[in-house]
Amino acid sequence: MTVVHRVLFPKPITSLDEYLKRRGGRGLEAARQMSPEQIVSALGAAGLRGRGGGGFPTARKWQTIIDNAAAGFPATVVVNAAEGEPGTYKDRTIIGADPYVVIEGALIAARAVGANSIAIGMKRTFAAEVQRVQGALAEMIEAGWTEGMAVGVIQGPNEYLYGEETAMLEVIDGRYPFPRIQPPYRRGVTEVWAAADLIDRSSGLSANIELAGPTSEQVAPPALVDNVETLANVVGILARGPEWFRTEGTEQSPGTIVCTVTGSTVRDDVAEVPMGTPLSEVIEVIGGGVQLGQRVKAVLSGVSNPVLTADKIDTPCTYEDMQEAGTGLGAGGFMVFDNTVDMVSVAAGVSRFLAVESCGQCSPCKHDGVAVSDLLGALCRNKAGESDLDKVRRRLTTVTEGARCFLASQQQSVIGSLIEAFPEEFQAHLDRTAPASEPFLVAELVDIDGYEGVIDQRFSTKQPDWTHGEVWSGQVPAEKLDDHRSPQALED
Ligand SMILES: Cc1cc2nc3c(=O)[nH]c(=O)nc-3n(C[C@H](O)[C@H](O)[C@H](O)COP(=O)(O)O)c2cc1C
Ligand code: SF4
Repeated sequence: MTVVHRVLFPKPITSLDEYLKRRGGRGLEAARQMSPEQIVSALGAAGLRGRGGGGFPTARKWQTIIDNAAAGFPATVVVNAAEGEPGTYKDRTIIGADPYVVIEGALIAARAVGANSIAIGMKRTFAAEVQRVQGALAEMIEAGWTEGMAVGVIQGPNEYLYGEETAMLEVIDGRYPFPRIQPPYRRGVTEVWAAADLIDRSSGLSANIELAGPTSEQVAPPALVDNVETLANVVGILARGPEWFRTEGTEQSPGTIVCTVTGSTVRDDVAEVPMGTPLSEVIEVIGGGVQLGQRVKAVLSGVSNPVLTADKIDTPCTYEDMQEAGTGLGAGGFMVFDNTVDMVSVAAGVSRFLAVESCGQCSPCKHDGVAVSDLLGALCRNKAGESDLDKVRRRLTTVTEGARCFLASQQQSVIGSLIEAFPEEFQAHLDRTAPASEPFLVAELVDIDGYEGVIDQRFSTKQPDWTHGEVWSGQVPAEKLDDHRSPQALED
């Protein structure tokens, strides 16, 4: 397998001139000669699937936005650049190498769905990437690329949920990163853009959580939310055609994927590979394999999909093959665990991450999640008994009740899969024959420094109320934040 460079360039592009010399701009140029239907049809022929984690067909999503257009209310395109999935650093790497291609992709999307504004949703903590995007944007505005379009960066909070698309729409509308009720299709940004990077929040419109449809009363236009890597891929498809796009990858998962490999590997790194590359090769080529004398025990793709065990390590990195193997490709952020890692400690760490990051709008997600996390914490410390593991199993059956976003299902499926895959390790902690351990630190990657992934250490003191207080106040963010904190205060 060779590393490829379709959306992730080996050397950073530092100016718009350089971008143009490297064939930049041709995707938008082609899109300007095409109708929205032709653009969507090209994406459909290419078979592009969203790289934010779900693999949803991009053409189908764009067509839904077009079908639900609202007369007099142009749509908004939202670039999801909030990357917070543990083990994932690919969007920041793409932006660091070439922010121009992401903005060009968003401009093509805006043309296709009839949007007059583009919001690039980033975390305030992504200082270097925010600067990169703002610099590129200033050059593109100056050069007339964005004419008739308001384009700005929304610097949002550091919470994991900010990357969930309905929560991102909430933040853009000036509210907390709390997911909206999941409709099959949703209305988007309600506010009127006042300037390139400012939103006028004075309209005072309330949250638009109603289902939308062509016949519904128009109160807000639809919003298209796409991941950074998805939009970067759009440019190549428009510039070089769907057949070219399909020269890499498989029938159902065409193209490439930008993978992050971290954990028990020799190196932590990010690189782009053809879809269909066996996971074992991805780990070997990007991460240098595991340390000498060790072997891979398990791999997690972020904290969104069931664990993949060593016997399935050769599974090709495609949506269909990962599904067949009982897991998911996710955002290609592979956390590798070798035979020295205690998987009960990993389960406790994953559970803690999801329980803390849960916003608490749905009580079972927060309270069952915190209970599972506490019980697994006790279990890895050798302080739990059989009945505690039964309680974990029971809580995992109820944690998703009434959930309005996917986070609760993540708790259920990832933890459930770890218990199922490593029963002997759970038993060893119940029998106290395994050494006591602490929950593994599972949190956002804040950097890849050289070949060293840097995990957000601050997360170890984050409480389920999203403060760093001595103890959990007992409140959940959805209750507490309304009273005590502003969205700006969430930036830590
Ligand atoms: C809890 C949670 C966190 C998410 N975080 C991100 C994220 O950081 N970046 C991202 O692109 N998508 C994230 N997603 C997926 C988005 O909701 C959405 O599906 C995606 O932005 C759609 O873009 P795509 O179709 O281009 O993949 C998250 C989803 C959930 C449930
Ligand atoms: S499922 Fe969990 S994270 Fe999602 S909205 Fe409900 S409480 Fe919040």
